[in-house]
Amino acid sequence: MIIMKATAKANTNIALIKYWGKRDETLFLPMNSSLSITLDHFNTITTVEFCKSFDKDIFLLNNLPASDKESNKVFRFLDKVRNLAGVNLHAVVSSENKVPTAAGFASSASGFAALAAAAAKALDLELNTKEISILARQGSGSACRSVYGGYVEWKKGIQEDGKDSFASQLLSEQDWKISILSVLVAGEQKKVSSREGMKRTVETSPFYAGWLQTVEKDLEDAKEAIMSREFEKLGHVVEANALKMHATMLGAKPPVLYWQSGTMDVIHHIQYLRLTGIPVFFTIDAGSNVKVLCLPKDEAIVYESLLTLPTVQKVFICHPGSGITYLE
Ligand code: DP6
Repeated sequence: MIIMKATAKANTNIALIKYWGKRDETLFLPMNSSLSITLDHFNTITTVEFCKSFDKDIFLLNNLPASDKESNKVFRFLDKVRNLAGVNLHAVVSSENKVPTAAGFASSASGFAALAAAAAKALDLELNTKEISILARQGSGSACRSVYGGYVEWKKGIQEDGKDSFASQLLSEQDWKISILSVLVAGEQKKVSSREGMKRTVETSPFYAGWLQTVEKDLEDAKEAIMSREFEKLGHVVEANALKMHATMLGAKPPVLYWQSGTMDVIHHIQYLRLTGIPVFFTIDAGSNVKVLCLPKDEAIVYESLLTLPTVQKVFICHPGSGITYLE
């Protein structure tokens, strides 16, 4: 019995300039380009085994059978990989997720980056990093950025087949060390997925046109700030871009509101810290938790002060991390 097997590890990433909206839902092609930092915490390690004798696909998440919803996403993705390789084999996929999914941190980015890399390697597809990025994108858009470490740009591309829509690295994780504090706030779990939230925004929000008119300029400004290591310039554009993304959703029908009162508490606290002279900024994805950016020299004081807020449950300190690695 021949088993074709590979294991890959990928870290999650946090968007500085957000991907919000698709122009093609099957191929996961975005309406706008985006930019992120791959983190050194919160990874997924995935092993994929293909074998002729398997009669169905199985997906185990942290050693337990995953829900039908999660499993179907993985099986549909395996179909894409099988198509690419021209094979018809079933697989057992086993993922160990170190992203606190229940805490509302995005796990689809690290999840599909690790799955794309492991599945392609198991089938000897010999894809380069760009091709893995294109493949990972078709599991979850933001996953195409987690293929690379450090500071990463995803160019939206214009082709219909998506061959020009992939990520590339701007700076490596060693090139510029900043601190990213992931702040977990109290409150309910989100009810609208980012997939649904962005779809509804594109289809119904009158503010979406304003997003599209300005997001590429935000990205250029952020890129310039990264290349010249200008932290404050980066922080201002990142914070404004996150608020603008949330503003587009508030205009959707029905409106999409991810924030809890703890989210506002952190926003106000960051603004207050800035008034005291600390360069510190925030960004928020499709959820209530807040990611705070500061310089490593201010990391301890920002961490301690965030923990004094009654609605803050936990703070995880992260730094830029690596892209995909393969494990034996
Ligand atoms: C707000 O990549 O999770 O985090 O492509 O539908 O899987 P799908 O969506 P996903 O959306 C991420 C949205 C975001 C912004 C970002 O990461 O750029």
